[in-house]
Amino acid sequence: MKYFALIPAAGVGARMAVGYPKQYLPLLGRPMLRHTVEAFLRSPLIEHTYVVVSAGDAYVADVLPDDLEGVTVLRCGGATRMESIRNGLRLLAEAIGAQDRVLVHDAARPGLTPAMIGKLVAEAGAEAAGGLLALPVVDTVKSTRGGSVATTPRDGLWLAQTPQMFPCALLRRALEEAPDPDAITDDASAVELLGYSPRLVEGHPRNLKVTLPADVRIAEMYLSMDITQ
Ligand code: C5P
Repeated sequence: MKYFALIPAAGVGARMAVGYPKQYLPLLGRPMLRHTVEAFLRSPLIEHTYVVVSAGDAYVADVLPDDLEGVTVLRCGGATRMESIRNGLRLLAEAIGAQDRVLVHDAARPGLTPAMIGKLVAEAGAEAAGGLLALPVVDTVKSTRGGSVATTPRDGLWLAQTPQMFPCALLRRALEEAPDPDAITDDASAVELLGYSPRLVEGHPRNLKVTLPADVRIAEMYLSMDITQ
C-alpha cells in the first residue's frame, strides 16, 4: 500500500482579500503553498505529492518549479474544493491504485508537519474507512439556529482538519456520488454519506486553516516555532 498526497489549491481565498489567491501569500518570506508542500516532501511515508491549481494559475510555476522532485502540478481546478479534488483523482486514475491511500490536505494549512502525517498514517493507515486529523472542541458551543441561543454539549464534538486519508477507490466513489458539491466542505463528509465512519486522530492547533487576515500572524508564529509533535 502506498501513500499519496493530493493538495487542492485552486481556490481564490476571497475572505483573505489580498488580490491574489491566499495560497501564495508569503509566510516568513515563503509562499504558503510551499510550506504546505514541504511537509509532504519531508515525510518518508509519502510516495508522491499532487497539487491541483486552476487552469490559468500564473503563480504556481515560481513556487513549485518543474524540476522540484516529488511533486506534480495538475491544472484541473474546479468551481468548488470538491470538484478540484474529483478532477485531480480522475487524472490520477492510472497513477494511484484502488487500495493506495490518498491524503487530501488543504493548501491553506501550512502548519502541517511530517510528524503529524506519520501519526495519521500510524493510527488510521490500515482503516478501511480512512481517517483524518481533528481537534476535540474545548469551548462551549452556542447555536443561533432557529432564532434563539442554545448550548450544544461539547463532549464528542471535534473540529475536522486535514489531511484526510482514504483508500483511493473509496474517496473516488464518495466524491463521484456526492449529491451536492457545495455542501461537501471536507472529504470525510462525502465518505460518511456512504455509511463509513472514518477514524479521528488528534491533530494540533498549529495545523490551523489560514482563512482571515488575522490568521497570518498566528500561522507565522507556529511556523517560526520548532514544534514537531
Ligand atoms: O476556501 P477554503 O479555505 O475553504 O479552501 C480550502 C482549500 O480548497 C484551499 O486549499 C483552496 O485552495 C482549495 N479550493 C480548491 N478549489 C476551489 C476552492 C477551494 O482547490 N474551487
